[in-house]
Formats: sequence, C-alpha cells, structure tokens
Amino acid sequence: LRVTWDAVTAEKGGYDHFMLKEIHEQPKAIQDTLVGRVKDGVVDLSQELSLTEEEIKGIDKIHFVACGTAYHAGLIGKSVVEKLVRIPVEVDVASEYRYRDPIITPSTLVVVVSQSGETADTLAALRAAKQAGAKVVGITNVVGSSVAREADEVLMTWAGPEIAVASTKAYTSQLIAIDLFALHLARVRGTLDEQTLKAHTTALLNLPQQAEAILEQAGSIQPLAAAIAKHDNLFFIGRGLDYAVVMEGSLKLKEISYIHSEAYPAGELKHGTLALIEEGIPVIALATQKEIFEKMVSNIIEVKARGAHVIGLGIEGDTELGKSVDETLFIPATLPLLNPVLAVIPLQLLSYYTSVARGLNVDKPRNLAKSVTVE
Ligand code: G6P
Repeated sequence: LRVTWDAVTAEKGGYDHFMLKEIHEQPKAIQDTLVGRVKDGVVDLSQELSLTEEEIKGIDKIHFVACGTAYHAGLIGKSVVEKLVRIPVEVDVASEYRYRDPIITPSTLVVVVSQSGETADTLAALRAAKQAGAKVVGITNVVGSSVAREADEVLMTWAGPEIAVASTKAYTSQLIAIDLFALHLARVRGTLDEQTLKAHTTALLNLPQQAEAILEQAGSIQPLAAAIAKHDNLFFIGRGLDYAVVMEGSLKLKEISYIHSEAYPAGELKHGTLALIEEGIPVIALATQKEIFEKMVSNIIEVKARGAHVIGLGIEGDTELGKSVDETLFIPATLPLLNPVLAVIPLQLLSYYTSVARGLNVDKPRNLAKSVTVE
C-alpha cells in the first residue's frame, strides 16, 4: 500500500479544493440542519427558540440583515416568509441598514444571517436593532460566535467548518434554517393548514437526496465552464426566486473566476441592459418557477435574438425550456419555494470549474477574506 496523500490533501478529503469538498458536503449539511427540528411530520423549533406564541403572533414585520452570500439567503427568506407566514419582510445589506434609519419597533423581528457570526457590519446591525428594541434572531454556523452570543435567539446552521472563501454549504444551510423558521412561524400563527405544513416538511426532508443526485452529475458542468472561462462578461437572468438565486450565482462567479457578471431580473433587461447583449455572450437563465415560466421563456427568446449563447436551468421533466436555449441543466422537482436550495448547486459548480479552467486560486481569491471583521 502506498499512501500518496499529504496532510493538506487529506484535509480536503481527496478533493482538489476545499470549495469542491464543501459543495459536495451539501447533502450532509442540509440533513444536519434539519435533524431534530421536525416533530410528528411538522417543523417545530420550540425546543430551541424561546420566542413565545404571543411574541410570534405579535410580530408585525421582519427585517433580514446580512452581508454577501448570507444577504442573498435573506433575499430568498423574504419570498419564503411572505408566502408562508404573510408578514411583510425587508432585506438589507448590513452596511446599509444602520445608516438608512430603518423603522424598528418592539414588534419588529430582526433576523441576522452570518456564517461566521463575526462579520463587523452584521454585528453592528444586530446591536443597533437590539438597541432600538427589536428582538434579534441570529442564524449562524459557528457556536459561540459573537452573533450566537449577542442575538436574543439563535438558530444554528449545521454546515460544519467552511474553509473556502466562496460560501457554498453555508448558503444552502441558511436557506434550510430560514425555511424551518418560516414553517415554525406559520404553524404558530396558523397561516398554513396541517396538510400544507406536512407537505413542506416532507419536501425539505427530501432535499439531501435530491442535492446528491445533482452532485452525481457534477462532471457534466465542466465543459460548460471551460467555454465560459474564455469570456470576460456574462449575464445571469431570472425572475422571482430565480432572480435571488442568480444573484448568488453571479457573486460566486465574480469571486473566484474574476469574470464580470451581472444578475438581472429577466423582465427588466429591456429597460437598458439588453443593449449589452451581443453575439456569443453567455447568458445563464434560470426557469424553475412554473408560474412565471412563460414570461421567462419570452425573455430568453429576447436575448437569443440578440445572439446570446443561453444556458438554461430548469426542472427535470420540462420539455419546453430546451427548445429556446442552447444548453440545458436540470434539477429534480421539489416545491417551488425550495427550488433555490437545489438550483444554486449547478451554479456553484459552474463557478468552481470556471475558476479551475482559468487556473486561479479557487479557495483564496484575490482581495477577499473569509470573514470580514472591519466595517
Ligand atoms: C465575506 C465572505 C463571504 C460572506 C460574507 C458574509 O465577504 O467572503 O463569502 O458571504 O463575508 O460572511 P458571514 O460570515 O457574515 O456570513
């Protein structure tokens, strides 16, 4: 027997980079974040949150506050909470929140989301919210972190240590924590019936194996990445939840491949950005949301007509999307609100393989830090 691994390779579990390892750890991270939080087929967080029924019923608005990838998780959180709990939600980048004089009252619930629990801007927002009398829920991945210590309530993500600067498994775990939180609030406030609560919970429990199925096809993304690596500009487009997911996809690509990319709400292209679409430019188009599928396809046709090379991402079984795009990627079907958890995975892989194709330092991109502890 000859062991060819050195200590660092061993730490990476045989993967070339921490980022790839962490992408592949997502089924487990999702699973670990779900464990112990479902009782009799329904989400119940009353063991770990001290928010009383009365307090939950008294919330009149929610603010999600975070930075970077965690902010993108908050954007998904807005749709999820508004849809399931019917409480109005605002989402802010932490460095903006404090300075815009937000309206915070004792019936505002502020949810700060932070992988490290140490991001200076997020912590400052947490403190400002507390001072203004709001209750603060911290969603964090690090036990004992500043967010975990200072928030009134803590909802842990159990993604395990994330080493790569570009966040992957922390993001999907944050989405799970937010889904759990929304379902908990929905149950207490009675906004969903038992059957719907159970259907959501079952769908959540299926996500680890669906994420695994996407990862088994990871290699098929490599040739797409090799083609993208030759470009200096590209666009991501989507509508609704897909728009929030492409914001994260675009950030991932920028961070580690240094390719300029923009995420755009597909319906807004015609108000300016369409001018930038020219022959051969890659456009990554998400079309996972049934309700707005037709609209999305017509936006894809608009960019195709200007010469864009479109990579479409849709739901398995969809036979329409392929007709209007150049390449197609699919994710397994789940509830529309949970699509982001799966849809982001091919985008993470695309960024990863693009960075590798460009020969860049995937795990430690230039100018960036894993945890930003200065404001
Ligand atoms: C840094 C990291 C990002 C991360 C952001 C927020 O910029 O490079 O990946 O999303 O900080 O970090 P947090 O630990 O608060 O989630």
